[in-house]
Formats: sequence, structure tokens, C-alpha cells
Amino acid sequence: MATLGTTGSTAIDPLKRIAEISSKYNIWLHVDAAFAGTALILDEFKWMIEGIEKADSFVFNPHKWMFTNFDCSAYFIKDKQALINTFAINPEYLRTETQGQVNDYRDWGIQLGRRFRALKLWFVIRSFGVKGLQEKIRGHISLAQWLEGEINKNTSFEMLTPRTLNLVCFRYKPLGVESLDELNTINERILHEVNQTGKVFITHTKLNGSYSLRMVIGQTNVGKTHVEKAWKLIGEVASSL
Ligand SMILES: Cc1ncc(COP(=O)(O)O)c(C=O)c1O
Repeated sequence: MATLGTTGSTAIDPLKRIAEISSKYNIWLHVDAAFAGTALILDEFKWMIEGIEKADSFVFNPHKWMFTNFDCSAYFIKDKQALINTFAINPEYLRTETQGQVNDYRDWGIQLGRRFRALKLWFVIRSFGVKGLQEKIRGHISLAQWLEGEINKNTSFEMLTPRTLNLVCFRYKPLGVESLDELNTINERILHEVNQTGKVFITHTKLNGSYSLRMVIGQTNVGKTHVEKAWKLIGEVASSL
């Protein structure tokens, strides 16, 4: 399984190299682009799927970063027969005249009954349009880029991973504080105090042992003022500790 946009830090696996190995050894290759997959609607991020022709299945979640209410995952598979061989059940009452002529999605997974999730995604695509979606996604990425710039300019904060999309992983690192434990404790306090204000909600992860604050800029109508306010609040909380 190759991940385009890992949960913790949005790291991007080298798909092409993984695909070469999996096809050499005839291994099923699934591509998990749950979060980052949305960026593939932008030409400038198509490099992420170099090698995709060798993948067997691919998933991305419009419920994460494509403004579609939970839940909605888009799953693409090269050989649907592999799913059918695994999941199809054929009791008398499920035999229909159209068997084999239409996609019976009940044969592609565990559930028989399912909601019509594609409909809400269709509405999202129809209401924003491809251009509208592209503008939103580009806008989020550029806000994240702005935040990254602010962090890099500030001598009391540092980025903990390179930023590729709209997730910014960073920490407070005031001059003179070098101990990992102390930095982790300070950043954990910042996270809780910032979230307790009820004004923003940021999350965290640990990267190579370092407690990282995570700000993701992907809410449908998020704008520059929201990100500026969040950044100001984080700075105020950090310097008050
Ligand atoms: C890379 C990745 N894959 C899969 C998932 C699972 O998402 P869901 O359970 O919403 O389909 C997540 C959620 O954070 C994720 O980041």
C-alpha cells in the first residue's frame, strides 16, 4: 500500500518506485490518497500519481477535503472481478435478470444495502464546478504556504516537516530551550490552551519524537482572516507560558 498524504504529516510515498516493485512481484498495490487525493484535481500535483497505471486500487475521501458531508469515499479498482470473486453471494432472492450486465455494487463489498453517497458528491461538483473546486483547493494550499512563511520568519517557532499541501506541522521552540521533553511539554500545553479557547481546533502528532502542532487549512469557507487569527492566538498563548 502506498500512501499519498499520510495521516500524521501528509508525507507522500514514492508511488512510481513502489509500483515497480509491486508489479515485479505481482503484489496488489492499493493507493491510499484519503486526504491528499483531492489535490489531484490540480495539474501542479499530478506528479503525486506518477506510476498510477500500475496500481490496482485507489481511494480518496471527498468527506475529508472536498466539501462533502461525512461519509463519502471514492474507490477506484482496475479489476472489479477480484472484488466480486471475494464478496458476491447469490441466494435465490438476489438473482436478477440484469446480472452480469450492470454493476451490482452489493457484490463489491460486505454490505448489501447502502446509501446513495454519490449523489451528494454530484451536488458538490455541480455547485462548485471543477474550476470552483480548483480555486478553493489552491486557496487552501496558498493559506498554508502563508502560514509556513510566518513560521519560518518567527525565531520562536519552527516547521517540523516540509509542507506539501494544506497541513502545517510546526512547534514552538523559544530560544534557549533545547530539551526535547521540555519542548514536548510546552507544545502539548499550547495545544490544549489554544483549543480550550474554543476559537480554533488544532491537532497534534509526534514526528521523530517531537510533539508537533498540526494546523490543517481545509474547511470549505476558511479565509485569510481565520488563519491570521489562529496564528496570532497561537503566538499569544505560546508567549504567555
Ligand atoms: C491516509 C489516510 N487513510 C485512511 C484514512 C481513513 O479515513 P476514513 O476512515 O475516513 O475513510 C485516513 C484518515 O485520517 C487517512 O488519513
